[in-house]
Amino acid sequence: MLRSGPYPALPADAVVLLTGATRGLGLVLARALRRDTAFRLVLTARASSLPRFATEGFSDDDRTLLLPLDATRPGEGRAAVAAAEARWGRVDALVNNAGLALRAVVEHLDDARFDEVMAVNFRAPAELIQAALPGMRARRLGRILTISSVGGMMAMPTMAAYSASKFAIEGLCESLWYEIRPWGVAVSLVEPGFINSDSFTRTRRTPASQASETDPAEPYHVHYAAMGALIAHLMRRTWATPEGVAATVLRTLRARSPHLRVRATPDALLFDYLRRWLPRRLYHHVLFHALPEVRRWGPASREPRD
Ligand SMILES: NC(=O)c1ccc[n+]([C@@H]2O[C@H](COP(=O)([O-])OP(=O)(O)OC[C@H]3O[C@@H](n4cnc5c(N)ncnc54)[C@H](OP(=O)(O)O)[C@@H]3O)[C@@H](O)[C@H]2O)c1
Repeated sequence: MLRSGPYPALPADAVVLLTGATRGLGLVLARALRRDTAFRLVLTARASSLPRFATEGFSDDDRTLLLPLDATRPGEGRAAVAAAEARWGRVDALVNNAGLALRAVVEHLDDARFDEVMAVNFRAPAELIQAALPGMRARRLGRILTISSVGGMMAMPTMAAYSASKFAIEGLCESLWYEIRPWGVAVSLVEPGFINSDSFTRTRRTPASQASETDPAEPYHVHYAAMGALIAHLMRRTWATPEGVAATVLRTLRARSPHLRVRATPDALLFDYLRRWLPRRLYHHVLFHALPEVRRWGPASREPRD
């Protein structure tokens, strides 16, 4: 039977698996889930980050299961779902939060860093989804929620791998939305823009992008300097908080008819609006001219005709 009405609500004691829960948005979300719900929580982190749970007041107890999960290691996602099912018999909701940003222009991407970003932002969430789905389908109930990004709806210069990984997970989840709707399993992509946080300090670089960033003689130096400063400025100044995004995630988990795409910050709404209403050529033209110091990008930069 094709389900067209609202999705079944999560039970009060639903089992929720959250990745990347020891810092940033994941930690704020873990606190909110513990404080504002009676859900049982499966919180995962890289083995090297697990000790941070104790520092943040989380321990293995009757409501909480703490598990290692390194997103770059295939199989650890499946093992985490199996461990959660062994403890509580099910996973009702999966929240893919762990994420990694990489600053490198396309010319400076290397396989190792590209693979790492794709593993954390795309392959590992996909593995977790595959592992959690059979149980959700059997119970005809479940929520699959992935923290995507404005970078999953529009690409920014110097962030090609990040955008590619977020576009990839958006495509996978959009397919999935159609596939599993008949079983009452809801799929959502929560898309924040800039969140007030220090996560820009953890942005990875490739050796080539690092070298260009520090050497003013390098052709892409201004790209990096201008975009790095802009992103740091916006993350420090934005009013959008991790607490606000966590509240949006909770609302989405509880909604009976959650949207596939949830714009989670005011700038996400603005970019979504621009993208939908500006003719595509004009949209790219406007954004190009809005880039910081773009007149200094490349030698005597001139805009090509498209
Ligand atoms: N901050 C923003 O402005 C912003 C905007 C849009 C979207 N987002 C998205 O929001 C999500 C959370 O980002 P955030 O701002 O909270 O970033 P963050 O503070 O840097 O936290 C990232 C989380 O991902 C985990 N992680 C990184 N590599 C991992 C790996 N190999 N295996 C397992 N976990 C790994 C980190 O664990 P460790 O602590 O062990 O490194 C950490 O818990 C991400 O998906 C990000 O793309 C953030």
